[in-house]
Amino acid sequence: MSQAPIGVFDSGVGGLSVLREIRARLPHESLLYVADSGHVPYGEKSAEFIRERSQHIAEFLLGQGAKALVLACNTATAAAVAELRARYPELPIVGMEPAVKPAAAATRSGVVGVLATTGTLKSAKFAALLDRFASDVRVITQPCPGLVEQIEAGELDSPRTRALLQGWVEPLLAEGCDTLILGCTHYPFIKPLLRELVPDAVSLVDTGAAVARHLQRLLEQRRLLAGEGTRARARFWSSGTPQSLAGVLPLLWGEACAVQPLP
Ligand code: DGL
Repeated sequence: MSQAPIGVFDSGVGGLSVLREIRARLPHESLLYVADSGHVPYGEKSAEFIRERSQHIAEFLLGQGAKALVLACNTATAAAVAELRARYPELPIVGMEPAVKPAAAATRSGVVGVLATTGTLKSAKFAALLDRFASDVRVITQPCPGLVEQIEAGELDSPRTRALLQGWVEPLLAEGCDTLILGCTHYPFIKPLLRELVPDAVSLVDTGAAVARHLQRLLEQRRLLAGEGTRARARFWSSGTPQSLAGVLPLLWGEACAVQPLP
């Protein structure tokens, strides 16, 4: 048993969609969340830059006593998870990748669309994922530059966000896509809008819940789960303006919390 917290990070607010799943599955765990909002979006940055940021944030979270790390970001996972695992071989580290395997198993039309950042779609890790799980289906990838910025600004349903999404989704539907992968942790926040733009028969898949289950298994195996009597708490840091993150926490996390500047 361990009362130590779980460290979670993302380029910004996207990882809060994963943090919510972790809280729902593991309500006794204390959580630390870093939004690297001073450097968002990661999607258009070099892999080397993202590796440096991930390393810096991982060190910070470990310094705060984290017993496990969750890269609540597909882009950071593609760029940095291998290096972090090599550097901290004993530490449970959970990364994220677009849900290609479940989508390939679920599609009936045989056409799957992937919405993700440019960085994720360009990565060797994503190419390997397609090789491994998508040989029998057609996968159409769609980078979404600008969408993360809209979500960071809290524009979950503005005319501009709607127009951007429409422009990306319509061609996918025209190709017969019946399964859409949300391959960035920011995108679950625009699921209600996306639902309006695609027919009911189109499934929207993301991996937040699967990541929380995987984290639970890892902690169980290592006997690191928190005891049931524990009073869990969540603490937040931002490398951008702490007030901006604090401002969107009630909407995206479900409660108001203090945010500290990331050293
Ligand atoms: N939320 C991130 C992801 O899952 C990164 C978004 C970004 O900063 O571009 O890919």
